[in-house]
Amino acid sequence: MTRVALSMAIAAALGAVVAAALHADPAVPGWLAAIAFLALATAAGGLARALDAPADLHEERHPLGPSQPAALPPGALTRRGLFGNMWAYAAGAFGVLALVPFVALARRRAPRGTAWSPGARVVNADGTALKADDIDVGGVTTVFPEGNVGAPESATLLIRLEEGLLRPQPGRAGWAPAGNVAYSKICTHAGCPVALYRHASYQLYCPCHQSVFDVLDAARPLSGPATRALPQLALDVDAAGYLIARGDFSEPVGPDEWDRPV
Ligand code: FES
Repeated sequence: MTRVALSMAIAAALGAVVAAALHADPAVPGWLAAIAFLALATAAGGLARALDAPADLHEERHPLGPSQPAALPPGALTRRGLFGNMWAYAAGAFGVLALVPFVALARRRAPRGTAWSPGARVVNADGTALKADDIDVGGVTTVFPEGNVGAPESATLLIRLEEGLLRPQPGRAGWAPAGNVAYSKICTHAGCPVALYRHASYQLYCPCHQSVFDVLDAARPLSGPATRALPQLALDVDAAGYLIARGDFSEPVGPDEWDRPV
């Protein structure tokens, strides 16, 4: 019984590590750890009972003179053996359980990329490639990388500004050819689509919780619960005059929670 409980403790501890590595529901490694502790407690109880001699136990007196200790039958448990097993299994189970948080953290997901890549043409919802002057000044449209129309994480707002109005961040000069500036359409607060643009104030509005972003200043949040700017997509113009991406967004799109372990 004691050996079974010790084996169960090790198995449950290993299961907890595997569950953490497979990114299972956090409750699963928790329950397996609880089973490991319960099995260890059961083993300790069994060991205590094995060592507890009955009150009326007595032995015949050995005859005087030199004598050899009786040989134990094969496989019999001795006190030394029981204690040795107990400590080894307990140390093993606790050691394995200590790995669970490290394994869970190592499984933290890398920030997700989108379908935007260097040279990807900017297309509208119909799949039509857009040139730098296809949108009127003050206009806005939702665009995608060519070949990935409808990909949710790649949804981008393309806004045409009067040239020279944008206040580019350091290192972002030239990201908005002919006044075409592009920001992720996914709100950084909770992931709703940012749907409204007011050209009079150069502001984007998220309808879910009313976050407001400053289009002229790298889509910095001005009010509302969002605390992070909308990631910007660096644009360029290819030899045929079509808008293309220089790469993926400047930062991971969407709320920070999307890149945390669940
Ligand atoms: S999801 Fe945009 S403000 Fe909450």
